[in-house]
Amino acid sequence: MDIMSYIKNLNTKDEIFSDVYQYGIENNVPIIDSDALTVVKHLLKISGARNYLEIGTAIGYSGLHLLSVFPDSKLITIEIDEEKHQTALSNFENHRVSERVTAIKGDAKTFEPDALYESLDFLFIDASKGNNQLFFDKYSKYIKKGGLIIVDNILLRGQIVEEELSSRNRRKLREKVNDFNQKLAESNHETSYLPVGDGLLVITKG
Ligand SMILES: C[S@@+](CC[C@H](N)C(=O)[O-])C[C@H]1O[C@@H](n2cnc3c(N)ncnc32)[C@H](O)[C@@H]1O
Repeated sequence: MDIMSYIKNLNTKDEIFSDVYQYGIENNVPIIDSDALTVVKHLLKISGARNYLEIGTAIGYSGLHLLSVFPDSKLITIEIDEEKHQTALSNFENHRVSERVTAIKGDAKTFEPDALYESLDFLFIDASKGNNQLFFDKYSKYIKKGGLIIVDNILLRGQIVEEELSSRNRRKLREKVNDFNQKLAESNHETSYLPVGDGLLVITKG
């Protein structure tokens, strides 16, 4: 057994949204890695954050988990794909959290936030990876000072350090994700880069 499998076994808990998880697996929906999810939920619990903004709802899997940390938390979540958005709405309904969720069908690159976006204390960026910088610049300003920001998939399944990438598109994506990772490292924000799941960047809003 390798170390990552050893950790995964220790982190494993009963899946509380197994219907959504199964649907995700069967339909090839990219959902957050289970180890990464464990860490995100743990950090949320420590931070005490209750008002969340997620970029990249997919089918609502991570959103359901985020909402399970505190019963009085609220989530605004944005998804560009109509079918996934509709599936997420059903999942939120089925798991009786609809009244705590504002699910927006739209492009987070151009979406215009409104008064809803006051006093947010957690931002989860998990959409098109080449736009991490844009999403960070656009939405981090709505997170209150001391709030938590987490960006998923900052390691691109190891491609972030792969010397030979045959696809031009992958090389371009790698460059964009790397530029973002480097820029945050050199910024005044407090950052931690965690090699869990596909890599999490944890930021405390300064
Ligand atoms: C990795 S999946 C999100 C997974 C989800 N957070 C989870 O763990 O359950 C990324 C999602 O972002 C969506 N997406 C990509 N670009 C987007 C954009 N510009 N605005 C909103 N959603 C976007 C994709 O359609 C996809 O469903």
